[in-house]
Amino acid sequence: MEKLMIAGSDPLKGTVRISGAKNSAVALIPATILAESPVTIEGLPDISDVEILKDLLEEIGGSVQFCEDEMTVDPSKMISMPLPNGKVKKLRASYYLMGAMLGRFKKAVIGLPGGCHLGPRPIDQHIKGFEALGASVTNEQGAIYLRAEELRGARIYLDVVSVGATINIMLAAVRATGRTIIENAAKEPEIIDVATLLTNMGAKIKGAGTDVIRIEGVDTLHGCRHTIIPDRIEAGTYMILGAAVGDGILIDNVIPQHLESLIAKLREMGVQIETSDDQIFVEKGTKPFKAIDIKTLVYPGFPTDLQQPFTSLLTRTEGTSMVTDTIYGARFKHIDELRRMNANIKVEGRSAIINGPILLQGAKVKASDLRAGAALVIAGLMADGITEVTGLEHIDRGYSHLVEKLQGLGATVWRENLTKEELEHLKNI
Ligand code: EPU
Repeated sequence: MEKLMIAGSDPLKGTVRISGAKNSAVALIPATILAESPVTIEGLPDISDVEILKDLLEEIGGSVQFCEDEMTVDPSKMISMPLPNGKVKKLRASYYLMGAMLGRFKKAVIGLPGGCHLGPRPIDQHIKGFEALGASVTNEQGAIYLRAEELRGARIYLDVVSVGATINIMLAAVRATGRTIIENAAKEPEIIDVATLLTNMGAKIKGAGTDVIRIEGVDTLHGCRHTIIPDRIEAGTYMILGAAVGDGILIDNVIPQHLESLIAKLREMGVQIETSDDQIFVEKGTKPFKAIDIKTLVYPGFPTDLQQPFTSLLTRTEGTSMVTDTIYGARFKHIDELRRMNANIKVEGRSAIINGPILLQGAKVKASDLRAGAALVIAGLMADGITEVTGLEHIDRGYSHLVEKLQGLGATVWRENLTKEELEHLKNI
């Protein structure tokens, strides 16, 4: 096991290239199960979630070639192998195997998903959708059993706007008989990306990116080639880092429209930002930034995934800022760690209240989840002295080549093996 060492306070400068979107990748890879011939996805990020999904496709009989950032999946010999335990539990997005395997084989057994602990993360809307399409769904000893004689299109209203449920129902419905209508669907760019892949595979989908998605079922789907969209959350993380410690950072390979809420909030603080077709430039801040409030909302609102990194930046602003998470009310595990670094923050209900400006101090901190990790990396780069971040397995799930990208911007960061004592200590907390 390793820890990330960060020597803070260096101004960062230069260009960082953004990788393919994690939250698209984890749906696109399972979506290949629905085809009858090879599907190639290019631009995949080099993250552990992608590796785990590759292994899971191989477990069910897929032949997968993965070289650099391109994966080719031949799904023709896949079978509906039950996956009640093992790697399936390592990532939350393994729930997409439910929709994809149900769509192709009319049955699936998938262990209940793992992933980041952000408070309760139910999947009742996914199940409601599968049942509406004609599947029987049971939960037996921590695994979900799905079975259908036939999948039939249905009208499904989501009680909660859910990215996962919207994608999962699309996956199950594209090969169902007849028309499916998903109402109150999520509108995130990753949903459009998955719909684009499925359409290239021969599916008939209209309205992805709006709150009503219409799907006409087809009998079979075929292989194709697809390029993944850039990761808006990774891009947003580097933009926040650029505002916090940048001396001029160019974010390359990004779709600025996907980041409008973040750009607006950074500008409100006084950060200078320029956008072009596929790049965003974050200028060096000259004046102290203004304190602001943010509230996370479904897309196109401010993303919950950037709330934690943004909190680190807000420790530097003058006055009191408030961050409210309406999606995951308990996504505040990073706050105690930021406090260890001298931040003045308190959590009240679904909100964190940040008083600044504070000069953060390097400390030993632990990433409890992926975006908490991003928050601590940014805090470490802002801090005086050395910060040691453990819990890197969370960060490795979502940030492709983090150390190399930071070093490319001039940061002094490196990975070190944990000592025996540190390993013991981590086991005991
Ligand atoms: N919800 C339900 N019932 C459901 C599904 C969701 O009540 O059946 C609730 C959730 O508890 C939450 C809200 O609805 O309060 C939104 O959840 P959603 O289903 O949209 O989240 P998700 O699909 O599980 C994805 C991303 C998350 C991101 C959220 C919100 C993936 C693999 N994960 O999760 O990404 O935070 O959407 O945008 O796409 C991350 O990247 O760090 C991450 C956690």
